[in-house]
Amino acid sequence: MNAPVNLNHAEIAATTPLDKLDVSDPALFRDDVWHPYFARLRREAPVHYCRESMFGPYWSITTYKDIVQAELLHKVFSSESSLGGISIRDRPKDLRLPMFIAMDPPQHDEQRKAVQPIVAPGNLAKLEHLIRERACRILDSLPRNETFNWVDRVSIELTVQMLATLFDFPQEDRRKLSYWSDCATALPMPGGLIENEQQREAVFAEMLQYFLGLWNARVNAEPGNDLISMLAHAPATRHMSPREFMGNLVLLIVGGNDTTRNSISGGVLFLNQNPEEYAKLRADPALVESMVPEIIRYQTPIAHMRRTAIADVEFGGQTIREGDKVVMWYISGNRDETAIEEPDRFIIDRKRPRQHLSFGFGIHRCVGNRLAEMQLKILWEEILKRFERIEMVGPEKRVYSTFIHGITELPVRIPG
Ligand code: HEM
Repeated sequence: MNAPVNLNHAEIAATTPLDKLDVSDPALFRDDVWHPYFARLRREAPVHYCRESMFGPYWSITTYKDIVQAELLHKVFSSESSLGGISIRDRPKDLRLPMFIAMDPPQHDEQRKAVQPIVAPGNLAKLEHLIRERACRILDSLPRNETFNWVDRVSIELTVQMLATLFDFPQEDRRKLSYWSDCATALPMPGGLIENEQQREAVFAEMLQYFLGLWNARVNAEPGNDLISMLAHAPATRHMSPREFMGNLVLLIVGGNDTTRNSISGGVLFLNQNPEEYAKLRADPALVESMVPEIIRYQTPIAHMRRTAIADVEFGGQTIREGDKVVMWYISGNRDETAIEEPDRFIIDRKRPRQHLSFGFGIHRCVGNRLAEMQLKILWEEILKRFERIEMVGPEKRVYSTFIHGITELPVRIPG
């Protein structure tokens, strides 16, 4: 089945003058109509300049090969938070948060090293048992023959339980983590979760206060096996300023939360949209192994990463100037037919399912990729042991965001 293309949008995408094409409008993602716009950019202007958008002027990089190339040019395309960081939307200059995803080497490399042990093979093996136990408990508590929101009951619940474990954060307060994560990524708007940046700062201050309690309890104790202990004891992070601690908390909370959550939801959605793939999976549950990376590709939970040019550079036949904003659209690279066969199809037994850009590439490539895959794999193994089908009974609702490509509601029913 091909990706849904609203005819009207296909026409708009085809007829808008190229220099007026703006793929950053969050409505394109909320309404799931982004496909034809990116297809045209890949075809006609793979490195494209948009002069005017709600986020100001920006370059788009849309093909698989060019995105890989741009990621490798980290000496020219900077992630520095003071220059604007890693998302197309600039926060006000005085509110930009330092965090290692928004740093360049050498500081980035040193801080990344501090949390790397969380995903060491030995630690992942320990977590596996815990994740399975929790997944089983969550799945066993689901109602039968009754409509419920899969996102809330399963996707959010499993991810925040896991995240609380990674931080050794009190499980009874785990929903604070998803609240903080949602506040960190929400577009400020009247009536929205976050109405303005001041309100967001207040939520971050509350988050910092909570975590300072955990930090103080651990900084003078024996190093534990959780992210806060790791940050409190590693040479590169133990003297962080409170604002840097805040930034790295936002990184780890959002990094471990929205992404996995939306892949869990995406899996249910794609199997419902592709009943023949669902039948294949039921006939051969071992296909979970290749289905998981395919879900992550097809969902692309982080639609883009942004960089800022720190020198003039020739790239893809264009001249990108120092100070320009450069957006690498993973969501487009993952649908690039020159890199991935039949990219608009969801195929659970692809030969090379890990050929995708959802985890980025190069020095910032996702720290948690194996952990995320493990969570999804265990969840689907346990789902297949229990339920014949998870039926969608209404349309999904999507996040209004250019950055987080996500699903907020997925009404489902489990026949039983
Ligand atoms: C970085 C995606 C799960 C922690 C990233 C990046 C992407 C990404 C696109 C930036 C890559 C780049 O700039 O080249 C995802 C997706 C996930 C996921 C799609 C799930 C399906 C996780 C989990 C964690 C995590 C479970 C664990 C806590 C991080 C961290 C970074 C990162 C710390 C920063 C790495 C750096 O700057 O060196 N992730 N992520 N992510 N992710 Fe993930």
